[in-house]
Amino acid sequence: MNIPILPFLLICSCSLLVTASQAAGYFPDDVTITWGDGRGKLLQGGQLLTLSLDRYSGSGFQSKQEYLFGRIDMQLRLVPGNSAGTVTTYYLSSQGPAHDEIDFEFLGNLSGNPYTVHTNVFTQGKGGREQQFHLWFDPTLDFHTYSILWNLQRILFLVDDVPIREFTNQESMGVAFPNKQPMRAYSSLWNADDWATMGGRVKTDWSNAPFTASYRNFNADMSSRTWRTQALDASGMQKLRWVQSNYMVYNYCTDFKRFPNGLPPECNH
Ligand SMILES: *[C@@H]1O[C@H](CO)[C@@H](O)[C@H](O)[C@H]1NC(C)=O
Repeated sequence: MNIPILPFLLICSCSLLVTASQAAGYFPDDVTITWGDGRGKLLQGGQLLTLSLDRYSGSGFQSKQEYLFGRIDMQLRLVPGNSAGTVTTYYLSSQGPAHDEIDFEFLGNLSGNPYTVHTNVFTQGKGGREQQFHLWFDPTLDFHTYSILWNLQRILFLVDDVPIREFTNQESMGVAFPNKQPMRAYSSLWNADDWATMGGRVKTDWSNAPFTASYRNFNADMSSRTWRTQALDASGMQKLRWVQSNYMVYNYCTDFKRFPNGLPPECNH
């Protein structure tokens, strides 16, 4: 007696599943693969995106939407093994000459050596605000969440919800803050062996190509109220200090050689 009902139930639950999965991390809704001639791929019904790099080209994608403030999350699994010379980028950027940009870049390394997470903030076309970190885990073994929280008061860079960098709004001190130009999210995997690994001394080993980075669960939250006024609480401050004292490998704000005439104004904060 139950048999005729079964196909109906199956169809019904399947379509529910599809609807649910498309709501969360269904890449075709959110991004377009923009370059790489087939090296960027959508897999697992649009839930997984991979970028690859071989000796002829890298690949990349960008978000369909532009964002003006929000919390943007992406899960990434970086190129495993010998990734020296490769750079995986994940950033927000507006367009035009006086553009704003919020950058994550992942600089590959020889097997067993740590990736470097390079961060930067451009405002009105001016960057030069690099901070670099190593990670407290191997980012090639599994997916980890890299987030940019951007509101009127600050930009937070988060790794698995741990704040690694804060760029606060210091417009009152004459430092431009990105608050007028909407940005798109971009990601790419490319060869940068002229500078990326140990200052360019270690070159890409093409016998390991293609190199592949994987993405899932892109989420751009522009509507919920939680991030709009979000600041670091005591535990967030403590985590930020933990990362900065144990894993920071470069900070422009302490590079006195580079700025012999005085550090940039936002560094005095
Ligand atoms: C690569 O590994 C070396 C040695 O551990 C480290 O100094 C460097 O920061 C790592 N990252 C890059 C991108 O060179």
